[in-house]
Amino acid sequence: MQKCKYGIDELMEVMDVFNVPAPAAAQIRAILSAQNPEPNAGVFFRYYNPRSKTEEFERCFAAHLGSRHALAVNSGTSALIASLVAAGVGPGDEVILPAYTFFASVSAVVVAKAIPVIVDIDESLTLSPQAFEKAITPRTKAVLPVHMLGLPARMDVIVDIARKHNLLVIEDAAQACGGSYQGKYLGTWGDFGCISLDAYKVIGAGEGGVVLTDSDWYCMRAQSYHDTAACWRPDRFGKERQPGELFCGENYRMSELASAVALAQLRKLDWIISSCRRNCSLIRANCPLPAGVKWLECADPDGICGYTLPLLFADKEFSFRAQNAKIVGGNAGDATRGVRNWHMAWHWEHILEQKTATAEGCPFQCPLANAVPRYHADSWQQSRDIIHRMGTISVSPHLTADECKDLGAKISAGLAHC
Ligand SMILES: Cc1ncc(COP(=O)(O)O)c(C=O)c1O
Repeated sequence: MQKCKYGIDELMEVMDVFNVPAPAAAQIRAILSAQNPEPNAGVFFRYYNPRSKTEEFERCFAAHLGSRHALAVNSGTSALIASLVAAGVGPGDEVILPAYTFFASVSAVVVAKAIPVIVDIDESLTLSPQAFEKAITPRTKAVLPVHMLGLPARMDVIVDIARKHNLLVIEDAAQACGGSYQGKYLGTWGDFGCISLDAYKVIGAGEGGVVLTDSDWYCMRAQSYHDTAACWRPDRFGKERQPGELFCGENYRMSELASAVALAQLRKLDWIISSCRRNCSLIRANCPLPAGVKWLECADPDGICGYTLPLLFADKEFSFRAQNAKIVGGNAGDATRGVRNWHMAWHWEHILEQKTATAEGCPFQCPLANAVPRYHADSWQQSRDIIHRMGTISVSPHLTADECKDLGAKISAGLAHC
């Protein structure tokens, strides 16, 4: 009789997630049962587990990226919200972010009760530093650059502008784990970096996320918020040591099971990034481009994650033809077939129409929020033009050199006849 709460039955269910074939699973069960184990897996709560996978993942992740702290959470969205709250962003504050990002970035700002100020991207597909600086008001508290498609934003310029105006920098590196800018990992340039570990990101845990910060104070606040303010500070039951230490939070804790997967994935990160980058170079070298299309100029070509190789067409007609012929990927559907795409501000109905969970309209109607922007789908024409002219090539780390060469040649020929 098994004494432990979690045992072989649960382990076998997890194995089933990995599609272990039934005969192999039966053998494994037989071996484990024969040894009559009482698997000591009873401590699935990270803070009571002396061998916590979450703690180990945080330690390894922080060391890998060169961040003082890494706090594992249950999603990239949670990482953004916990960072904003830890930063002290709240009612009456404005946060500047780009019009091209997954909806989670803007949603996190609203959930943190602040006002999103949405500005254009430039041809790097990331936040335009000029648009950012122009949008700063006395109410701006933070800027939230996003490294879309694993492409770095111009972090040196953005951080300089932010420091000049005394703003916090919260990097949304959800799509950019392992990427870098000027040799420094994305997510480690700002006061906070937010990583997603959802199933489709560079590395994943099914669901998960990480808050990166070098600040002990911010880490403590993010940790507190992510753990319902149970607050392991170091004295869990001690009185508040300084104002801002104790406040109510949510439960964004990462589960031990997800952390175990994340840990294994982290060990593959360098291989994934170096393979993708090598494959990008091979595809490019074997893909001469016809007139009217060029490789997109990244803010730092050496720092891209490399799972997407972006192109920029001279006009959207050429871009849509190439997309509709399935030579490249892109957003033609959003423009020509009326598909709503949650990565573009002009589709964010929740923001455009200021939809809120309750009739009071918080935070848009908050008495502390002055001069709330009038969001309109026709804003961000520069972003729309760039997004419509963008084409993408998906790059797997598993491609062989020959496959990369063939792919490059095929795309080149396809574009030439398009
Ligand atoms: C740019 C960006 N930010 C935030 C998120 C949210 O991450 P998660 O799905 O882990 O909540 C995503 C996820 O797609 C994203 O692409």
